[in-house]
Amino acid sequence: MIFFKRILARINRIINPPKNIEEEFHAKYYYSKVWADTYFMGKNVFKCPNDLWIYQEILWENKPDVIIECGTFHGGSTLYYAKLFDMMGIDGEIITIDVDPMPDMPQHPRIKYLLGSSISAEIVLQVKELIKDKNRVMVILDSDHSCDHVYKELELYHSFVTPGQYLVVEDSNINGHPVYSGFGQGPGPMEAMEKFLPNHPEFESDKSKEKFLMSFNPNGYLKRK
Ligand SMILES: C[S@@+](CC[C@H](N)C(=O)[O-])C[C@H]1O[C@@H](n2cnc3c(N)ncnc32)[C@H](O)[C@@H]1O
Repeated sequence: MIFFKRILARINRIINPPKNIEEEFHAKYYYSKVWADTYFMGKNVFKCPNDLWIYQEILWENKPDVIIECGTFHGGSTLYYAKLFDMMGIDGEIITIDVDPMPDMPQHPRIKYLLGSSISAEIVLQVKELIKDKNRVMVILDSDHSCDHVYKELELYHSFVTPGQYLVVEDSNINGHPVYSGFGQGPGPMEAMEKFLPNHPEFESDKSKEKFLMSFNPNGYLKRK
């Protein structure tokens, strides 16, 4: 399956070549898969370093007291947010959700793991209970990147985000924005946002968070007004 996807990606690159130098670099970086070989304190973190730096700026500027993260994987991103809270002197927590627990997930007093699907009623209820006393809530959607799933997460989690905080939709670069374009790909996070945003004027894409010219989350830094 992975082999088949790689062949498709190669064909797609020939059919839909990058339009400018930013896209060319984005494609080169993305297809190298170095993002899957990126670590924070020894824990795998599936992110572009530009976005990790943007998270650091967002946490400092907005000082959320809780981050809800859909999609834990090895917990590298979760540990990163926890350590940022430590360094910044922010009394923040991270609630992180995954269907598939990894054996090496980092333990840290700020991290609470929930096991289950991010769109299940039980998980959403648990999250609601855990954040009921929180004033500054941020959400990061980084689980299943299919359009249907992300759209459901957007509908279920957007109301948790408090004014001035961010709802980050990760990996909106797929399905041709600018990677994995064309034949064989399906709608993803970008298309989920396109469906969600017209009905939610309280959220605005903060393009300033794409200032490093390459982000895996184009249009995905949604700020609640
Ligand atoms: C892209 S990885 C998360 C990466 C991690 N946040 C990081 O930055 O390193 C996606 C994760 O979402 C999980 N996942 C897939 N479907 C899910 C669902 N319905 N609910 C919760 N997690 C899910 C997968 O098990 C996988 O660990």
